[in-house]
This record gives sequence, structure tokens and C-alpha cells, in this order.
Amino acid sequence: MFVLLLLMLNPGAGVGSGSAGSAGWSVSFEDPNPCGLRGSSVLLGCSFHYPEDECVEMVEWSKGGLHGGQWVRSVLSTLTSYQGRAQYVGDKKNNCSLVIHDLQDVDHGHFYFSFRTDRFGRRSKVSVFLSVSGLTARVRPTAVALGDTVTFECGTSCGLSNVVWFKDGRPVAKPPSQVQAKDGGRYSCAVEGQEWARSHPVDLDVHYPPFNVTVVVNPGPPGPVVLLTPGSSAHLTCSSHAHPPALRYTWYRRTLSSGPGPGPGVPVGSGPVLSLSSVDSSHSGLYVCQVWNKLGENSSTEVMLMMDEADVNGLIAGVGLGVKVVLVLVLVPAVVLWRRWKCSAEDEENDHDYENTRAM
Ligand SMILES: *[C@@H]1O[C@H](CO)[C@@H](O)[C@H](O)[C@H]1NC(C)=O
Ligand SMILES: *[C@@H]1O[C@H](CO)[C@@H](O)[C@H](O)[C@H]1NC(C)=O
Repeated sequence: MFVLLLLMLNPGAGVGSGSAGSAGWSVSFEDPNPCGLRGSSVLLGCSFHYPEDECVEMVEWSKGGLHGGQWVRSVLSTLTSYQGRAQYVGDKKNNCSLVIHDLQDVDHGHFYFSFRTDRFGRRSKVSVFLSVSGLTARVRPTAVALGDTVTFECGTSCGLSNVVWFKDGRPVAKPPSQVQAKDGGRYSCAVEGQEWARSHPVDLDVHYPPFNVTVVVNPGPPGPVVLLTPGSSAHLTCSSHAHPPALRYTWYRRTLSSGPGPGPGVPVGSGPVLSLSSVDSSHSGLYVCQVWNKLGENSSTEVMLMMDEADVNGLIAGVGLGVKVVLVLVLVPAVVLWRRWKCSAEDEENDHDYENTRAM
């Protein structure tokens, strides 16, 4: 700031100066055509000079405008629209800079600086022409599929320095070029240092087929194997991430005795929740939920439902030898362990299955 001030104090270094007057009087503007973003603050850099033996008594800024066909300069301090927004940051020596805060469309136009010394009054014939512009965020295309390329543009008639982007109101390091599911949202842009003056938000709609398809069994512990008490009921809930949201759900059951066979098994229901009432061994098996939206489908991993009195031998009959061995090695100890755990849990009078069953 100090360096800037020194530069402005040196009349020779003035950029785009508009010298008003003669005999040692002058007003020069740092930038005669500044541009500011709506809602932001703009500095109208200004310096003025006069003979050394004079003393400055008054300084003021005015805005030019047509009133009844006449060009009129209205002093900012008399205009209510500039109360609290126009701030003189200069002095009564050589710096006549003005800051206008919270730029609005009415600020678009000509501004003049005047001063009076103990001998003469001077006002600048030349003015600063301030342009006020908004920011326009553009995302193209606005509806995309995964992996599509998207271009983000932040447009304004002011020259832009560093543009920053926001997604759903939070800053993002840089907008994505190849979109992923998480990139869908509302984007807006701003200029670094003036982050509060943002563009209107624009939506990026990312379409993707279902993923993370999961099945939760209630009642039951989370996990791929659920033991049910015969006669109780169970609800299998299928959820997924999909955009547009899942349209169609199909439930498949594969009995262990039917072997690995082709496909997911036989369809046993539709809709996001599969309710089984009064379960018995015919409900045992491997369940899969398949989800569709218009972009494709995806399936959950298998969830195994078994009756509490599971006939492990019966379940594994007919399954390929490799699978049999795996099942015997994994399932039998799992079931034994589970029962043991359940017994000790019952000893502690805290049997969740029992409580849940009663509550149904
Ligand atoms: C999808 O699942 C993966 C792995 O389980 C997880 O890391 C990721 O956060 C999930 N995605 C969503 C959107 O929940
Ligand atoms: C299915 O979902 C998984 C993750 O849950 C994902 O890795 C896979 O790409 C999805 N398949 C399709 C066809 O979308």
C-alpha cells in the first residue's frame, strides 16, 4: 500500500492520468476505466497536485448523471445511496483515492474529484469511468454421465484475475474435468480476495448407474450371514447410490442345494424392502438385491439367511465340492461359535433376537 502511495505521489508515474488544469494543478487517476464486480469493493486510485504554497481546505467526490437533460455532478456525501458505501481513503495532501463498497449497478458511470485550496477551487474535468459487472458461472454440459468431460467458465466483462470455485457453498480446489458421482452439485465462482461477490450458482447433474448396493436384514447383525428364528419375520432392505434414483429392485434367492448355477437365482420379490413373515427353512438361501436405473444395474453381495436350527448338511448338499469344503470349514465353526455366543448372551438376560421377535 505504501509503495502504491509513493507511486501515486509521483506525478510522472501516474498510469492513465487525466491531467486537469494548468499552473501546477492536476488530478490524475490510477486507472481511468476501473471495473468492479457487483457486491465487491473497488478502489478508485487518485492523486492531486497544486502549488506548494497552498493549503487544501476541502476535498470531495461527485457522481455525474443526466438530470432533466443536463449533466449534473452530485456530491457523494449528499447522496443517500452512497452513505456507508463511499469511503474516502485519501488525505488533504496528495492522495484522493476513494473506495466504493458493495458495488451496485447504479455505481456504473463517471466519478469526479474536486478540491479547494485556501486560494482556488479545482475540480477534475476528466472523470473515472467505473464499470460494474456481475460474474456468470457456466458449466457445460450441465447433465453428464460418469467420466464425461465438463468445462467450467467464470465470465464477466471485467478482466479477471484468479477465479475460485465453490461447490454447494464450499470452496473447491479446482472444478473437476472428468466427472465422478460425487461431483454433482451447485457451482458458483468468485474472484480471489472478493469471495463474497459470487456468481449465481449453476447445477451440474451427474448421472450414474447404481453402486454400493447393500442389503440390511432386520432383525439381524450386520454381515453376510443372518440366522433367523423359525416363525419370526424378517425385512431385507436394499439401498444404493444412484442418480437418477433407483427405479426398480428385484430380489433373487438361490438355495444352497440348487448349487451355484447360472444367474442370481429365482426372483422372489420386488421393491426396496423384501418382507418375509413366519420364516421357515424354505426361506433359507442366498439373497441378492438387483437395482436398476435408466443408466444400468448393479447387485448387492449375497446375504445368507439360515434358520436357527440350520441343517448344515442339508444346506450344503448338492453344492460343488470346493464350495462344500469352504462351507464346512467356514460355516460350521461360525454357526457353532455363534450359538455359543448366543447362549452366553442369553445367560446375561440380554437376548436381542428374543426382544426383537417379541416386538414384531
Ligand atoms: C461406497 O462404498 C465404498 C466402500 O465400501 C466406500 O468407501 C464409499 O464411501 C461408498 N460410497 C458412498 C457414496 O457411500
Ligand atoms: C457396481 O457397484 C460397484 C461398487 O458398489 C462399482 O465398483 C461397480 O462399478 C458398479 N458396477 C456398475 C456396472 O456400475
